[in-house]
Amino acid sequence: MALSAFFLMFFLLQHFAINILSVFSPDLFNEVSHFMGTNPLIQFGLQPVLIFGVVFHFVMGFILEIKNKKAQGTSYFKNHGAANSSWMSRNMIYSGIAILAFIILHFVDFWFPEINTKFIQGDWSGLHNGELRYFHELQEKFLSPVRVGAYVLAFVFLTLHLLHGFTSAFQSMGATSARKKTLQKIGKAYSIIIPFGFIFIALYHYFNH
Ligand code: HEM
Repeated sequence: MALSAFFLMFFLLQHFAINILSVFSPDLFNEVSHFMGTNPLIQFGLQPVLIFGVVFHFVMGFILEIKNKKAQGTSYFKNHGAANSSWMSRNMIYSGIAILAFIILHFVDFWFPEINTKFIQGDWSGLHNGELRYFHELQEKFLSPVRVGAYVLAFVFLTLHLLHGFTSAFQSMGATSARKKTLQKIGKAYSIIIPFGFIFIALYHYFNH
């Protein structure tokens, strides 16, 4: 669970680094997107690993939730709610479900059309009307206030999920308590900066088209 979390947090960082280019330089965003979308190592090597990582993380999350629920029924485990755990840690399954719902919407928006264009229609040119199409496609998605609202809400859930998940993943991998304070600080910064950065991108394109 922790390993897949690390992998997804690293993916999220690179996803953000590419998407933020769309704010500063549409041309650079187009070029990087075209490289990522057509490079065989990324398409046939890393992409399947990423999809496996996403599915694995969700499936393991549900299994862990069921195990925890069962353990609560036994006498040796007592959850004192707010007294010995944070709201975020007790509700990882709900923030996780909200993110899963977002991923489904997000795949319908971006990933399935990409798969369709490249793997079904066989068009790897990345062109539309003689220009690289990625920036224009992204702009179009953020025209609808309802979709932008759904994305923003999902990114708030992502913050809640990461606020607990970041330090939890390091603890699962054996980080010592001496490092706990530093990790908590880095975790807090990551959990706020990355999702709110995504919120900024969505709102930027909504207000600037
Ligand atoms: C403003 C925010 C975001 C924008 C504009 C955006 C944009 C995109 C685009 C354009 C693609 C298609 C890439 C391709 O296949 O060519 C994509 C794929 C994907 N996005 Fe996002 N994304 C955003 C936020 C997120 C977040 C927060 C997550 C995770 C919680 C996420 C997870 C994914 C995944 C798993 C894929 C499929 C990966 C792949 O390309 O193989 N995205 N996104």
